Amino acid sequence: MTHILSAVAWPYANGPRHIGHVAGFGVPSDVFSRHMRMAGHDVLMVSGTDEHGTPILVQAEQEGVTPQELADRYNRVIVEDLTSLGLSYDLFTRTTTRNHYAVVQEMFRTVHQNGYMVEKSTMGAISPSTGRTLPDRFIEGTCPICGYDGARGDQCDNCGNQLDPIDLKNPRSRINGETPKFVESNHFFLDLPAFVDALASWLETRTGWRQNVLNFSRNLLDDVRPRAMTRDIDWGIPVPLDGWQDNPNKRLYVWFDAVIGYLSSSIEWARRRGTPEAWRDWWTNPDARSYYFMGKDNITFHSQIWPAELLGYDGGGSHGGAPGPYGSLQLPTEVVSSEFLNVEGQKFSSSRGVVIYVRDMLARYQPDAFRYYVAAAGPENQDVDFTWDGFLRRTNDELVAGWGNLVNRTASMVHKNFGEIPAAGEQADVDREVLATTGQAFGKIGSLIESNRQRAAIAEAMRVVGEVNRYVSETQPWKLKTDPDRLSTVLHTTTQAVSDCNTLLSPFLPHSAQSVHEVLGGTGEFAPQPSLEEVTDLDDDTRHYPVITGNHDGAYRFPAWESVPVRPGTPIGKPTPVFTKLDDSIVEEELERLREKA
Ligand code: MF3
Ligand code: ZN
Repeated sequence: MTHILSAVAWPYANGPRHIGHVAGFGVPSDVFSRHMRMAGHDVLMVSGTDEHGTPILVQAEQEGVTPQELADRYNRVIVEDLTSLGLSYDLFTRTTTRNHYAVVQEMFRTVHQNGYMVEKSTMGAISPSTGRTLPDRFIEGTCPICGYDGARGDQCDNCGNQLDPIDLKNPRSRINGETPKFVESNHFFLDLPAFVDALASWLETRTGWRQNVLNFSRNLLDDVRPRAMTRDIDWGIPVPLDGWQDNPNKRLYVWFDAVIGYLSSSIEWARRRGTPEAWRDWWTNPDARSYYFMGKDNITFHSQIWPAELLGYDGGGSHGGAPGPYGSLQLPTEVVSSEFLNVEGQKFSSSRGVVIYVRDMLARYQPDAFRYYVAAAGPENQDVDFTWDGFLRRTNDELVAGWGNLVNRTASMVHKNFGEIPAAGEQADVDREVLATTGQAFGKIGSLIESNRQRAAIAEAMRVVGEVNRYVSETQPWKLKTDPDRLSTVLHTTTQAVSDCNTLLSPFLPHSAQSVHEVLGGTGEFAPQPSLEEVTDLDDDTRHYPVITGNHDGAYRFPAWESVPVRPGTPIGKPTPVFTKLDDSIVEEELERLREKA
């Protein structure tokens, strides 16, 4: 049994999230976490909304509200959506808590004290017409590395390299097209070159990473420069140093803010539980493992900036130093990055109306139908295209016709013939074989999920479902009316096999796993769902916010990752279908919705 930190990327609270976002960080992290809990590990799954910085400011201005009001609005929307999707966070919080401010500032003080924060004067961009600071991502130009013309001031989305706005060729403002003016400004830079050796040896010892993520991370080490961790902006966390603290126009950048949320939310979780030191089991314990889930635009963040900050805190770079009061914090075990989900052949773009919001998806379809699609056809190793036609086919042909139908016909036959799960008589080879198939699947599918090969894992689970369907077709229980002993044995065996499949599928399909559990006569909570709770800020009782959490007082129990014998005599009622078959017309309807937005 291992302590496993499941660290999930922090979505910006500048709008509702679309299905591409949750395909990248949401579903994969939840499948992993649910499985690891079932396998007996101590999982801590944390995240929250990222509420500072330019993305929030710009949207607040557009909606005519303050940045905090904007963040409050979308924090709530996002919390509701992620709860409906069944993402089983132990804590999903936000970056505007007093606790997060305190943890970020503590990280800064120690990294600074260890000598890894260097104050430098730099050239920052301002808008010549307004005189206001022009944030990095609102500057666009040609990438100096790959020549791509749509590079942003902070990053080139074509080659993935981190940039400074002043490096861009032909820079222009995305707000009004004017050429920015560069003026001098003082900032704190994280001395990344001081960590190159430590980062390289850490990367060298990584095993099991997706090859493209590892290659990308290694390549980042070829061009390592100090990076500014502060910005000229008035919305964010103050720099906790004399002369900076009270300057309203200098704030910490997202690289030294949201990413520290993994630690602050773990601390908040422990404090809320009344065991304020419990977070240490996941952070300062060398036997703990940590997995970070995100889309590929966040790899640099997690395989370079964040490990460097942790090393800076620990005193693990070339300037030495000593850990601060949190102790020696562990580096990530694995950075699990997805590629991008596109939609009907186009990149998601809220501004161009190429978007399917999580909320709309869940208003019209079952959460597990979407989760199934992401697990089976999501962007695990390469960019993939979400199509409504594909969604229809996956739902109807695989989920409904394959799995739902098996559940339904099994429960119907048991109900009609016995009204309860029958006992097995003497089993034949064919019976033992099907149970061997489902029984052995736990090991195989479990290790695929543990190595974050979820597409292969769910494909294998569905192959096993197919084997069970084949068993039913071969043994033909509907022809066994005159042989009640054999009928009992076959239906007992089928019920057992279906129950096993349900356990195997439950990390992917937690909502329907609960329903199938009940169809098979089970009671109580089988696949726990997260709950949305209103809480008070731990350090400021005037502030309240919603969080996603689980019930840790005993009821939040996951089933074990193993075959559990079904109990003969358990009453089985007349089943209602667990999955909804979709009408072909939804494809045209949804395509029309997309066209209307564009
Ligand atoms: N909100 C930022 C983004 O979406 C950062 C998310 S990842 C984390 O790019 F590091 F902040 F957690
Ligand atoms: Zn580039």
